[in-house]
Amino acid sequence: MEIVLPDKSYEIIVKRHAIDSVGECIASLWQNKKIAIISDEHVFPLYGDKIQQQLTDYEVCHYTVPAGESSKSLEMANRLYDFLAEQQFTRSDAIIALGGGVVGDLASFVASTYMRGIAFVQIPTSLLAQVDSSIGGKTAVNSSKAKNMIGTFAQPDGVLIDPETLTTLPELRVREGIAEIIKCGAISDASLWKDLEKLTGIQDLLAHSEAIILKALQVKKTVVEEDEFDNGSRLLLNFGHTIGHAIENTAGYGTISHGEAVAIGMVKISQSAEEKKLSPAGITEKISAMNQKYQLPTRYQPWEAEKFYNAITHDKKARGNSLNIVLLKEIGQAYIKKIKLTEIKDFLIEGK
Ligand SMILES: NC(=O)c1ccc[n+]([C@@H]2O[C@H](COP(=O)([O-])OP(=O)(O)OC[C@H]3O[C@@H](n4cnc5c(N)ncnc54)[C@H](O)[C@@H]3O)[C@@H](O)[C@H]2O)c1
Ligand SMILES: [Zn+2]
Repeated sequence: MEIVLPDKSYEIIVKRHAIDSVGECIASLWQNKKIAIISDEHVFPLYGDKIQQQLTDYEVCHYTVPAGESSKSLEMANRLYDFLAEQQFTRSDAIIALGGGVVGDLASFVASTYMRGIAFVQIPTSLLAQVDSSIGGKTAVNSSKAKNMIGTFAQPDGVLIDPETLTTLPELRVREGIAEIIKCGAISDASLWKDLEKLTGIQDLLAHSEAIILKALQVKKTVVEEDEFDNGSRLLLNFGHTIGHAIENTAGYGTISHGEAVAIGMVKISQSAEEKKLSPAGITEKISAMNQKYQLPTRYQPWEAEKFYNAITHDKKARGNSLNIVLLKEIGQAYIKKIKLTEIKDFLIEGK
């Protein structure tokens, strides 16, 4: 699959055991470069050696960050700049980001800012990173006040996705990725939705991961190609996220995962939209059933509408009095509705 943008195009390879041929892939992209593999403490021990062994034509070094969101910081970026400088990396050298979305966002942020930008390739190893964060060109670190506050738009030279890496991914993380795949089906691919309905559950999905990942990526690709810099239709990817983020922020760190919160967010926004005749009858039931099949939650208790409202308005305050929410016209088709900030309250009233 190719991502085609005005200033850059690049290949996304989705193939079981793709990591076994990473050497060929890199050789087709880069010559005479030093390469830094940036990874985390869980992923590097699993896949780092295998990758390094195939890069014998290059001078290769690696840096392993602690696993988890806290590594997505300016402090960590700074350590990586120092590391690259110590290794005498120049503008013609390159980075491989090997890991989940945290490593992907951090390493691509560093790549896009070190010496005003050096080349990088993404090798996403979590399902969420494979279907979502590794493509689209958004890089980020968190500030002390807010997630993803600091970042750039920077496209990789390539993305190599090996669904086989999901065999070592903890199940909670697999489910998180599935929530984003359900979202992709819901907003713009009824055939992906049907596939998800036909599969019997998580294991069956993993057995068919290549095809499913490709379809989910196709959804993201279309939106990103249309709206590289996130000024319009890319917002569709936010389905379930307005309420999802509010739940995440209110629940407190570690209580609920992003994917679980989004799963609940998709159900809740659809239920309210259904009641207001903004989405067709029965759609909430379909989303709930899909969540249940993949062991994702459908509701959050106790429901704290007031707190969620405060979280949403706090989030949006800087951006004015209105809010764009994403609703479904049907399964496979979403639309954006602009509402007044205060109107979101009506969407948060606890359902039956
Ligand atoms: N740039 C974007 O467009 C974008 C989009 C969505 C999310 N994100 C970001 O992605 C991040 C979340 O990504 P994530 O869910 O992948 O989190 P993550 O990178 O923390 O990975 C989750 C956990 O799984 C481990 N892991 C990853 N791959 C593994 C494997 N194959 N085997 C065993 N363990 C493995 C990691 O070490 C980590 O402990 C967030 O910071 C979010 O902001 C970015
Ligand atoms: Zn998400």
